[in-house]
Amino acid sequence: MNLFRMPEVYFGNEAAGNLGGVLERRGARRIFLATGPHVAKSEGFAMIRDIAAQDGREVAVFSDTTADPSILLVEAMTKAARDFRADCVLGIGGGSPLDAAKIVAVLLEHNVPAASLVGTNLVPPRHIPLVLIPTTAGTASEVTIYSILTDTAAGMKAAVCSPEIIPDAAFLIPALTHSMPASVTAATGIDALCHATEAYTSKRRNPYSDVMALKAVRLISENLLTAQREPHNARAREAMLMASFFAGLSFNNSSTTAVHAFAYPLGGAHHLPHGLANSLMFAAVFRHNTPGHEERMADLAEAFTGVRDPHALIPAVNALRRDLGMPMSLREALVPESDLERMAENVMTVTRLLSVNANPITLPDARRIFREAYDGE
Ligand SMILES: [Fe+2]
Repeated sequence: MNLFRMPEVYFGNEAAGNLGGVLERRGARRIFLATGPHVAKSEGFAMIRDIAAQDGREVAVFSDTTADPSILLVEAMTKAARDFRADCVLGIGGGSPLDAAKIVAVLLEHNVPAASLVGTNLVPPRHIPLVLIPTTAGTASEVTIYSILTDTAAGMKAAVCSPEIIPDAAFLIPALTHSMPASVTAATGIDALCHATEAYTSKRRNPYSDVMALKAVRLISENLLTAQREPHNARAREAMLMASFFAGLSFNNSSTTAVHAFAYPLGGAHHLPHGLANSLMFAAVFRHNTPGHEERMADLAEAFTGVRDPHALIPAVNALRRDLGMPMSLREALVPESDLERMAENVMTVTRLLSVNANPITLPDARRIFREAYDGE
């Protein structure tokens, strides 16, 4: 069992009160603040920026991070950070700005191409302080070893995996997630559910990741729909941010598996939001994974539905997806049928995730799984 370190975590609506002290302690004087254009206009962002700028610290805001950050984007961000002579990177937003900020903190110190970091354990030691603040509840980028970039030329996601990009501190402030639109609440919540369920069935699972996964599954089952329907329900938003955090600790110390692998070409080539891509693949992948793993599936079903039946999980997750108003098939999500074959071939290259999937996946399996996801139920 391998367990990675955790960032310092400050959880709660008052957590931002600790930000100044954390920056001070780490010697941050010139802060590169990365976010997306939508978050940049929010009150929560203004509060964080103002705290960052207290006590004579200088702050440069970069608000042009996009969904699915490309290798070119993180290199442009690094140039901006270098021109500012930043000595600290602070990321606030959804998974994309946080993933980009993680790479900028490395490139600021090491003058290497971003593409050279793609892979496992290829990141040189990072000393520039890195602090992350999520405004969605799902990716858990703020606690993980992962940064998912987009290789635009290949139409695929490119994963940087290294403990060097676990941030030094994470601020989990539920109030910052209240302004998430309904579709983002749904997609990011299902992403967290996939993190937990995949980690729980991964070949790299362990007692620590199991505990975190089951707790996350329970919290998501009890709170995701309420968080979407009542966006200012403080208890549901707090529970979902907690669920995302636990699911993150779970897959960070186990792994995601085939659902995330199959989502790669959907995100890389068709730009489906990450959580939506995962939700579209969940049923077909877990149907493939159930035979031989009935006990694990029963554990997950019990956590999600209260019923200990290995076949209860998939219909219950599908019912939740429907209640959340999500597309139920690749067809409904407007993925062209003519692309299924190319995507099946592409997914076979994601060996990092397929190799730890509960059941082996061959090219004919991949074709069938994409076909099932295309047709839906
Ligand atoms: Fe994910």
